Amino acid sequence: MKFTANIWKVVFPGVIYNSSGPRCTTPDELRALWESESSAIMMKSCSPLPREWNPEPRYMEVDLGSINSIGLANHGYKKYLEYAAELKAEFPNKPIVVSIVWFSHVDFIELVTAFQNDENVDILEVNLSCPNVLGKPQIAYDFEGSDELLAKIFAIPGEKPVGLKLPPYFDPVHTAMMAEVLKKYPISFITCINSVGNTLIIDPETESPLIAPKGGLGWLWGDYVKPVALANVRMFYKLLWDRMKIIGCGGIKSWVDVFEHLLAWASLVQLGTVLGKENTICFERIQKEFDEYMDKKWYSDVNQLVGNLKEL
Ligand SMILES: Cc1cc2nc3c(=O)[nH]c(=O)nc-3n(C[C@H](O)[C@H](O)[C@H](O)COP(=O)(O)O)c2cc1C
Repeated sequence: MKFTANIWKVVFPGVIYNSSGPRCTTPDELRALWESESSAIMMKSCSPLPREWNPEPRYMEVDLGSINSIGLANHGYKKYLEYAAELKAEFPNKPIVVSIVWFSHVDFIELVTAFQNDENVDILEVNLSCPNVLGKPQIAYDFEGSDELLAKIFAIPGEKPVGLKLPPYFDPVHTAMMAEVLKKYPISFITCINSVGNTLIIDPETESPLIAPKGGLGWLWGDYVKPVALANVRMFYKLLWDRMKIIGCGGIKSWVDVFEHLLAWASLVQLGTVLGKENTICFERIQKEFDEYMDKKWYSDVNQLVGNLKEL
């Protein structure tokens, strides 16, 4: 890992780490992340109380990625406070990032306060891109609702960097509206993107959807979403480059995807589906490939690359 990065005062030993999602729920999975070349330990999105898995089949891999409706299964935030303490005691040198999901403003305030006050957690990623309340859009698609919630979150005292995991936006007007909201708060970073929601993959053989929950509608990841992720990194770069960092996420499975996300303006990148498919060995492979390509191109620093897309 040659190229370090930072979010505010927190130093990452490289630019590639895991996204909140596959293989980061249990203590064993978190330990495996520390032992891998992941540059941070990101934990599964957690809620106030533990949540069960949706019925099976709920996760299916396909050639171009994966579709799922897991249902935000997690052990509840108190367990992740315990896991953070165990990890920090044993492995002090990697940033520990928590991911928080929202079911009400009160929930969010409880979790942000608890993690801000915890000495073992380094960074908070607040997940604004989940279907949190029945009958309401995901909060990041409700600009007024996001504004109200962010006002409460950023009123909570604390020194730790707080960032947001955003869903994909498909219309530049919506991106600009969200950017106007984000500019009002001391947000350290945004992670673009969470998956593309409410998609349907049909198996022509069985004549049914691949997954069971929600009539087969699920979250889509992998190759399918890379161009959407790159466009979101780029659109937000143009609106927010002087305010916060962007973490690229979506469709990264090789060095070339890391390279493209950095060109678009991501400072760090996260891996999701590929970690689910390959396990933690993917970090070593992608890091090695990326370092070799950087050498070949004579880049001695990632900052020579970040945002340097040559527009035509
Ligand atoms: C099985 C699975 C579970 C996920 N769970 C979460 C989650 O709890 N919180 C979250 O912010 N994103 C979650 N994600 C989304 C990923 O973090 C990531 O944004 C998405 O998969 C796009 O990256 P990828 O193309 O590398 O997979 C999940 C993804 C997968 C595949």
